[in-house]
Amino acid sequence: MSIPIYTYDAIIVGAGLAGCAAARELQNAGKKVAVITKVHPLRSHSGAAQGGINAAFSDEDSVELHEFDTVKGSDYLADQDAVEFMCKNAPETIRWAERMGAAFSRKPDGKIAQRPFGGQSSPRACFAKDRTGLTLLQTVYEQAYRVGVKFWDEWYAADIIYKDGKVSGVVAFNIRDMQLAIFNAKAVMFATGGYARAYKINSNAHANTGDGLSIVARHGLPLEDMEFVQFHPSGLSGNGVLISEAARGEGGRLYNSKGERFMEKYAPNALELASRDVVARAILNEIREGRGVGPRKDAVYLDVTHLGKELIMNKLPELRELAMTFLGLDMIKEPILISATAHYSMGGIPVDIDGHARKNNEEFIEGFYAAGECSCVSVHGANRLGANSVLEALLFGRFVGKTMVKDVESIELREASEEDATTALKEIEFLLNNNGNESVPALREELQQCMSANAGAFRSKETLQIAIDTVKELRKRFKNVRIKDKSKVFNTELQEALEFGHMLDYSLFIVESAIAREESRGAHYREDFEKRDDENFLKHTMAYMDKNGNISLDYMDVVLGKHELKERNY
Ligand code: FUM
Repeated sequence: MSIPIYTYDAIIVGAGLAGCAAARELQNAGKKVAVITKVHPLRSHSGAAQGGINAAFSDEDSVELHEFDTVKGSDYLADQDAVEFMCKNAPETIRWAERMGAAFSRKPDGKIAQRPFGGQSSPRACFAKDRTGLTLLQTVYEQAYRVGVKFWDEWYAADIIYKDGKVSGVVAFNIRDMQLAIFNAKAVMFATGGYARAYKINSNAHANTGDGLSIVARHGLPLEDMEFVQFHPSGLSGNGVLISEAARGEGGRLYNSKGERFMEKYAPNALELASRDVVARAILNEIREGRGVGPRKDAVYLDVTHLGKELIMNKLPELRELAMTFLGLDMIKEPILISATAHYSMGGIPVDIDGHARKNNEEFIEGFYAAGECSCVSVHGANRLGANSVLEALLFGRFVGKTMVKDVESIELREASEEDATTALKEIEFLLNNNGNESVPALREELQQCMSANAGAFRSKETLQIAIDTVKELRKRFKNVRIKDKSKVFNTELQEALEFGHMLDYSLFIVESAIAREESRGAHYREDFEKRDDENFLKHTMAYMDKNGNISLDYMDVVLGKHELKERNY
C-alpha cells in the first residue's frame, strides 16, 4: 500500500480555540499550515464553554488581582511567570477577539459586560450570553478559514513522527475511508483537548479521549500534573452535562434536602462563588452525608428562580434549554438538580510559556508544541478558575502560533518516509484483525466506573490502588478485544478502540501520579492526607511511561513569584 506524504511548514492537531488561533497566526504570516481534526472544527469542545472568558479591564479590577486569584485558585501550584503572562495579555486578547468579530454581551453603556465567577475578586468573565465558547470558536475558525488554513476535517491523528529529540510530522487516517497519510512538517502543535471522558459522569464531548496525551506518552515523553482533574460543581444530575457557573455568577443558590443553603458552612464569604474544587466537594459531601435530593438522592438543588424570567432568558437561555431537555425542569419556575461532573484537565503535555514541549525537566523537543487543555504550561496548577480556560486556549494558541512562525525559519524539514507510519499501521491492523472476546464499550464502562469511584473528587491510597490494579487489568483484557466492523467506511468501532487505548494509558498516569502525591491540593483531595504539604509537594509531577507501559515519576520545581504561599480560604 502506498501512503501519501503531504508536506507543510506546520501541522496543528485539533481545531478548537487553541488550534484555530495558532493556525490563523501561521497562515496569516505566510506559512503553509494544515489542521488535522477528528471532528468538524465547529464541533470541537471549545464550543461547549458556556460562561465566559476572563480579562481584568474594569475600573474595579486589575491584572494583579487576576494573577492573585489565579495563583490562589491553583492552590499555589501554578507557575507564576506563566500566570503573569496570561493575565497581562488577557485584555488585549478580548480586544483581538472583538476585532475579529466576536459579539460579546454588552452593558447598557455599550461596554463589554462582565459577570462574577468563582474564586474571583471582581466580575471579570466577559461573555456572549451563555454561549461564549461557541461564539469565539465560530469567530476564530472563520478567521482561520478566511486566511486560507487547510482543514483536514474528520481525520484521526494516530501518531507523531518522533526521532532523536525531534518531531517532524503526524500520521493520520481519513475516518471516511481509512486512507492513511503522513503529514510531514517542520513544526507540529498539539491542541487536542482534555481527558475527562475517563470518568463516567463528565461534561466533556465524546471526542475528549485524551488521544494527544497518550500519543506523546507512548514515545517516552513526559506528562505533567496528571493527578489534577477538575470536577465542576454543576453538571446536570444523571448525565453530567454542564450547567455553567454563570448560573451561580448571576446569583444562583445551592440548597440541600433540608432546604439549607449549605455553602454557608463551607465557604462563609464566597458561598456559591468559592473556587470550583471547594464547591464541588461541598456538594458531594452533602450527598454523602444523606442530604441529597432527587429520585436517587444524588444531587442538590440549583435555584435561580429569584433571578426572574427576563434575566434567565437574556443571560442563561442555553442552560434553561438544557435543563428542560434533559430533566424536564424549567429553571424559571423551579430549582434544577445538579451534582459535580468531571470537567477539565489541569495536567497535560508540559510546555514553556512559548509552547515548546518538554522532553524532560531541562530539555525541549525540537519542532513540537502544545497549547490549550492538552498542555500544562502551568497556569492552573492544582485547580483552574472558571473562565480561565477559554482565555488560556485562545491566548496561548495565538502566542504559540507566533512562536512557531519564528521557529520554522530555522528548523530544517526532515523528510518523512512510509516507514514512519509503521506503528500506527500495526495498531490498526491489530485492532481490525484480533479475534478476542472483549468489547470496547464494556471495557470502557468498567474504566469509567472505576475512575469515578476510586480516583474522583475524593481519593485515598486504598481507592487509588484499586484504580491502578483495575486499569492494569483492563489493559491486559484490551489485548483480547474484538471489533465486529471490519469495513473501511466510517469505522467508528475501530476509532473507539483506538481512543479507548489512549484512555487506558492516560488513566494510568492519573492514578499513578495521584497515589504518589500524599497531600491535598486543589482538585486533588486525599482523604488520608487532608492538608496541603508545601514542604514535600510544592512541585509538579512529571510522569513517564516505558515500553512495557509502566509509569515512573519525577518532579519539577514550581515557578514561584510575588504571590506568597498562604492558606486558602473562601
Ligand atoms: O461554568 C462554565 O461556564 C465553564 C467555564 C469554564 O470551565 O471555564
